Amino acid sequence: MSYQVTNRSSGHTFTVESTEAVLDAALRQGIILPYGCRNGACGSCMGTVVSGAVHYNGELPPALSAADAANHKALFCQARIRGNLTIQVQEVDAARDIEIKNLPCRVEKLEHLAHDIIRIYLRLPPTERLQFLAGQYIEVLVKDHEPRAFSIANAPYDDEFVELHIRYVKGGLFTDQVFHHMQEKAMLRIRGPLGTFFLREDSERPVILIGGGTGFAPLKGMLEHAFETDIRRPLHLFHGVRAKRDLYLGELPGRWVAQHENFRYTPVLSEPLPADEWSGEQGLVTDSVVRQYPDLSGNDVYMSGPPVMVQAGHRLFRRHRLDESRFFSDAFAYAAVAESLKGLRQP
Ligand code: FES
Repeated sequence: MSYQVTNRSSGHTFTVESTEAVLDAALRQGIILPYGCRNGACGSCMGTVVSGAVHYNGELPPALSAADAANHKALFCQARIRGNLTIQVQEVDAARDIEIKNLPCRVEKLEHLAHDIIRIYLRLPPTERLQFLAGQYIEVLVKDHEPRAFSIANAPYDDEFVELHIRYVKGGLFTDQVFHHMQEKAMLRIRGPLGTFFLREDSERPVILIGGGTGFAPLKGMLEHAFETDIRRPLHLFHGVRAKRDLYLGELPGRWVAQHENFRYTPVLSEPLPADEWSGEQGLVTDSVVRQYPDLSGNDVYMSGPPVMVQAGHRLFRRHRLDESRFFSDAFAYAAVAESLKGLRQP
């Protein structure tokens, strides 16, 4: 049985089978609704149901509160329908024209950035380049297993290599291979670029970028792109980690502060060690953001990190008047168990 969905924001209509999620149907028909995890974990695909009704297989997805659902909000990556529907959600245009490729690549360099983080540079075949938008991700294809997804940490202008930041996940099949067995020159297969997490350049609003752990990676790509293209909007990066030893590549934002007067940087430690002698921001990175920006109604917010952090941030920022359509997120999972969950991002 199939039904018709109309997006009031764009006027587009598409068909949805009763067995598929609204987002899947839209993407299949070339209509790019925003999305991140495609698992109900991040809230990136949230929109409004104007008329008609949606339902979910089982309980409400984690990124949708009962209050949101009562307020006609829906997560279209999980929502299914039994009748025609009118929705309101801002579509994504820029990612539509980029071809998603399946490519072989070689590990050019492996570099330890912190006790549990490795940076990998991947080299594509000489005749290939990966076109992407800063902040998007790729999947590493793993034989007989679900693909592993990683953010691209470099900017499109600097595309000789694809840079990934990989955090060790105890018991994680792929990260175990990276940390203990992978050698330079190893061959991999990747697919991408994917996702709708990228800098919206048609906005003049000041930008707040919030990364948890290796959630720094896509934000690094976005910022390098913003600096290269001379974007003058205020850009404020918050990087939340546990202790000082987790604050990898910290000297890089320090350099950006010196080079770009529109850039600010706030590292936030949730559990600093006594040896850290930390006098900077402490606690949850999301709390630090609203301490400095109690009214977010004029900002664009980009957030990348574990789903629980992104969900908490989404709720908190909305209470601080953030316009929901100006919240962009890219949640991924830290837990080893998540390696088996399709679509969740890996550190
Ligand atoms: S909650 Fe739907 S894409 Fe993440």
